[in-house]
Amino acid sequence: MATSCFPSSSFLVYFIFSLLSIHSCKGHPNNAALFIFGDSLFDAGNNNYINTSFKANFVPYGQSFFKFPTGRFSDGRLIPDFIAKYANLPLILPYLHPMNKDYVHGVNFASAGAGALAETHEGLVIDLKTQLSYFNKVTKVVEGTRHPAEAKALLSKAVYFFSIGSNDYIAPFTTNSTLFQSHSPQQYVQLVIGNLTTVIKGIHKNGGRKFAFLGVGDIGCVPLVKAVLLQGKDECSENITQLVTLHNKHVYKALQHLEKELEGFVYSYADLYTSANQISKNPSKYGLKEGKAACCGSGPFRGYFSCGGRDGQEYELCSNPNEYLFYDSAHLTQKASQLVAEWVWNGSSDSIKPYNLKALFNV
Ligand SMILES: *[C@@H]1O[C@H](CO)[C@@H](O)[C@H](O)[C@H]1NC(C)=O
Ligand SMILES: *[C@@H]1O[C@H](CO)[C@@H](O)[C@H](O)[C@H]1NC(C)=O
Ligand SMILES: *[C@@H]1O[C@H](CO)[C@@H](O)[C@H](O)[C@H]1NC(C)=O
Ligand SMILES: *[C@@H]1O[C@H](CO)[C@@H](O)[C@H](O)[C@H]1NC(C)=O
Ligand SMILES: *[C@@H]1O[C@H](CO)[C@@H](O)[C@H](O)[C@H]1NC(C)=O
Repeated sequence: MATSCFPSSSFLVYFIFSLLSIHSCKGHPNNAALFIFGDSLFDAGNNNYINTSFKANFVPYGQSFFKFPTGRFSDGRLIPDFIAKYANLPLILPYLHPMNKDYVHGVNFASAGAGALAETHEGLVIDLKTQLSYFNKVTKVVEGTRHPAEAKALLSKAVYFFSIGSNDYIAPFTTNSTLFQSHSPQQYVQLVIGNLTTVIKGIHKNGGRKFAFLGVGDIGCVPLVKAVLLQGKDECSENITQLVTLHNKHVYKALQHLEKELEGFVYSYADLYTSANQISKNPSKYGLKEGKAACCGSGPFRGYFSCGGRDGQEYELCSNPNEYLFYDSAHLTQKASQLVAEWVWNGSSDSIKPYNLKALFNV
């Protein structure tokens, strides 16, 4: 009974909350907008509206901040939620949210499970190319409802913020990927980056100029991989780590290349791999207690994807998510997202290159 009425009541609460957030927390109308693309690190609820198993619209997700599940894979806010706050913007609504019609502060297109490749979790996610097609529709609405100069300014001053790639490199180890099997690791990474580049160029063609990227973290070491792929051993998957290292190296080169190729293109690249590893290895330095095990889940390192009793599974929940790096088997806690967001926002140029997000918003 309680479980069957929860989704609709939480939807209502979220609906009302979103209304309040629009009307009581309006950013300054001249603030640069924030358009968000990518995967579960950034999905603020798009997957609530599609037929997929990649959902987080049940308790205890949302427990620390919203007090109800919004669809975010976190106990609270995600990295883009903090960035929006620092940029004096309201929370950016998911594209598929029924209240999302205005777009003046931006839109969130991210979808949990999504990759740059159409084959990654195909049929269960909004892949990056489809996210671009939604952005094309938003561009049309922006241009159709504003003076041309105003529309152009909104699109060119906006920041386009990406978290993509993790799923492209995890999926070949958890599902059957003929694409991965028929390519060398180098070729496969080039496909991922080629598809990401196509999407960047699509946004640029519509007038986007300021791009920000969260590099792929060390997903070979997340609790899910330890529990499921490494049978509970406290190790990292070398195969995944190798792919991610290759990806991060080449993505940064691709950005340097795009800077020369695309008119007015400016970017920010945040090396999440290094920064999250530092937190994981030395959690107490960052005010955390646990950098390896998840707060919510079951099995070794609470790495089984069972947080919230997904598919009727038993699960454990820690008493204080603020002490953990990981909330569930593959996602950050709100506290960790805040640490990363602060660093992405105003970190120094040796780790956020060549601009941090604060500078990118103001350039
Ligand atoms: C949702 O997806 C599942 C599995 O792919 C399928 O069995 C089901 O029919 C789908 N439901 C709807 C409403 O499309
Ligand atoms: C992959 O395919 C093989 C053979 O078609 C099948 O036995 C196996 O269960 C599949 N694995 C996954 C993870 O889907
Ligand atoms: C994008 O990925 C597809 C596979 O989904 C691949 O066939 C295509 O060549 C890639 N595009 C680029 C530009 O790399
Ligand atoms: C990892 O790579 C090694 C060597 O390339 C291979 O033998 C092994 O099967 C791979 N492991 C997985 C889980 O794919
Ligand atoms: C970075 O930004 C955060 C959030 O606004 C703030 O709390 C912190 O003090 C800033 N740090 C520096 C070094 O400016």
